[in-house]
Amino acid sequence: MQKTLELTDMALEVVEGLKASKKYISSKFFYDAGGSRIFQDIMQMPEYYPTGCEAEIFETHKRRIGSLFCRDCNTVELVELGAGNGQKTRILIRGLLDEQVNFRYIPVDISEEAVIQLEGSMKQQFPGLSMVTRIGDYFHMIEDLSREYPDRKVVMFLGSNLGNFNREQSISFLSQLNLVMSDDDLFFIGLDLKKDPEVIRRAYDDPHGHTRDFNLNLLKRLNRELGADFNLDHFMHAPYYDPETGTAKSYLVSTRDQNVRLQDVDDTIHFGKWETIYTEMSQKYDMEMIHDLADASGFRVAESFFDRREYFVNSLWEKV
Ligand code: AVI
Repeated sequence: MQKTLELTDMALEVVEGLKASKKYISSKFFYDAGGSRIFQDIMQMPEYYPTGCEAEIFETHKRRIGSLFCRDCNTVELVELGAGNGQKTRILIRGLLDEQVNFRYIPVDISEEAVIQLEGSMKQQFPGLSMVTRIGDYFHMIEDLSREYPDRKVVMFLGSNLGNFNREQSISFLSQLNLVMSDDDLFFIGLDLKKDPEVIRRAYDDPHGHTRDFNLNLLKRLNRELGADFNLDHFMHAPYYDPETGTAKSYLVSTRDQNVRLQDVDDTIHFGKWETIYTEMSQKYDMEMIHDLADASGFRVAESFFDRREYFVNSLWEKV
């Protein structure tokens, strides 16, 4: 039943996007099993610097981060939103354990499969780790956790995941989060910074072809789940970075005039030669933009941590 509903929602959203005057598919549809596997490959490649930068920040600043997390309290609930496979969080957890911070790790994800796998691998790597998992909507989960656990929560949103939202979506997300957090809770966010445009371009147009496969996998997914007949050879991956706004965008571009049939929704979509489908934005920030986002959503930046090249920032926010 659940599966059918999800499929219908996805079909409606995809058709709406493909019938818009400027075609788009939401980046939330990247993460089926295949897309999640390709994303792991992306995170492993040297060109995709955010993973290594965030790990470096945790390693370098673990002492200070640990002391801020538990300032004026004995124990913290470390709530991670969209934990995925917890790759970068492991370094932070190792650091907090080294610093003897008293904490419980609570990953929250909408994917049950991801959470179950994460729990198994975390317990194997850190046998003494205090951990509970939560599956479902972020905001409800935080409200529930506040009722269940009286201790301070440090809510974490890492890996520049916020960058996949535009400014309006970001402020709406952060403001909702602010509303469900208690006054003493903290928010710890990882954000990718503006830098040499060539470095950013390589991260989204890598020589291994992983990012291209990630983007084209959207069409594979529509073929499988909506009975579509996209020919992947007739679309190309086209990433682009605007250093003025700090916005990296990805498109799929139709290389010919073509019709694509969506069997399950009984519809046909026409693509002109060189017509685009907008699939993802990955915002890059400067500190002014970060302070502005915090202000606009009821937070104050308490302290920020950078890697040595200043490619990435992890910023600790408190409620105003
Ligand atoms: C998940 N998100 C922060 C990644 C990003 O950098 O926007 C997804 C990604 N897309 C292409 N490469 C990585």
